[in-house]
Amino acid sequence: MFQIPRGTRDFTPEEMQKRRYVEEKMRATFQKFGYREIQTPTFETLDLFTAKSGDIIIDELYFFKDKGGRDLALRPELTAPVIRFYVDKLQMESKPLKLFYFGNCFRYDRPQKGRYREFMQAGCELLGTDTPEAYAELIALAYTILKNVGLKDLKLNIGNLNILSYIFKTFNISKDQQKKLTPLIDKCLFDDVLSCLKDFGVSIKDAKQFIEVLQASDTNEILKLIEKDEQAKVEMMKLMQILELLKNIFDIKTCEIKMSIVRGLDYYKGVVFEIDAPNLGAEKQLCGGGGYELISLFGGRETPTSGFAIGFDRTVLALDVEKYKFPILKLDVFVIPVNEAMIIKALEITQNLRKQGLSVDMDLLKRGMSKSLKYASSINVDKIIIVGQKEIDNDSVTVRDMKTGKQELVKINVLYNKIN
Ligand code: HAM
Repeated sequence: MFQIPRGTRDFTPEEMQKRRYVEEKMRATFQKFGYREIQTPTFETLDLFTAKSGDIIIDELYFFKDKGGRDLALRPELTAPVIRFYVDKLQMESKPLKLFYFGNCFRYDRPQKGRYREFMQAGCELLGTDTPEAYAELIALAYTILKNVGLKDLKLNIGNLNILSYIFKTFNISKDQQKKLTPLIDKCLFDDVLSCLKDFGVSIKDAKQFIEVLQASDTNEILKLIEKDEQAKVEMMKLMQILELLKNIFDIKTCEIKMSIVRGLDYYKGVVFEIDAPNLGAEKQLCGGGGYELISLFGGRETPTSGFAIGFDRTVLALDVEKYKFPILKLDVFVIPVNEAMIIKALEITQNLRKQGLSVDMDLLKRGMSKSLKYASSINVDKIIIVGQKEIDNDSVTVRDMKTGKQELVKINVLYNKIN
């Protein structure tokens, strides 16, 4: 017996039906906001991912040498690949350039519910603008996608890494110390942040104030702390403008400013945001994104860039937790020939109904009527057509409605209209 690799999954037909349904809803919303779909390869050169983060990221990657000795990696995310594509081929496109994608990603993570080694992202990148309206639109798009797929319980937090960095400075927290603190802040482990700050020699009073500001959604508290820094104040005004737009134009009520949004990846700067599904527990983060800089590092002409990615698998999990009623996978018609002599006629009827647009299957195992009926009800069929000699002699077949159990004789030339 072969085992499925750790952290990967197989999907049943029912699960695939759900996934395709969610994917189509997401795609339609991206398109409504003026985004166009692109695709990039599943593997890239390894240095695309180490360029910004350094070799430390290699531990989290699936990487290999190909037969030509090239160092390659399965993509852990799609932002770096999209920017590589942009620098290579899309720089001359008119701006703003709005690109979206679906793609499977690979991370050498510790697997658990909602955290896999192969998972799918639905994401987008916005190139050429970083106005408050552009950010508000981007964040509203992420939120609207999740609402449109049917999720009810969502929490949106927006932050700003420039303001956060000013706050770090105010409390005399060095760059090295920040590196230790940010993963703890990212996971909201504020007790650990407190003991870390104590170790760094920060007074208890300051440490407590630092944590309070990180968790505060009252903007006055943040404003008080940054009032001496003009740049931080400008950034804060921009963030508040974005919040206003999200609340008033896009009608997103569950939205707060939180300086504890630090984002894990190394390329972010300025505005950042996350959307959680609180029902999901530990792996509740459905979406993350913000502004970032990669273009000049990849050899292109710098232009403002921002984007986000939604964890597709977690979105489906969150819908299940909310008991979302997905459309059921079903077939319009199942055709049963009563004996071998009827097989050709049954095939002909099956194929004609398919041509007219119905989803139709036919018994291919030559089993008896009762077994065929049992099979048909197991695969969720609306109608059954029984093809027998006596009926065919009258150019008719028997149609059984699986919901009511009613049967009637129907002429073959009006079959489609009767069934549809
Ligand atoms: P990220 O926060 O690393 O951002 O991933 C985005 C989303 O992917 C997460 O919020 C989560 O829902 C999902 N995700 C991440 N890791 C896993 C995993 N191991 N298993 C299941 N789901 C997972 C990015 O990847 C950025 N590229 C987003 C972005 C686009 N920023 C700017 N543009």
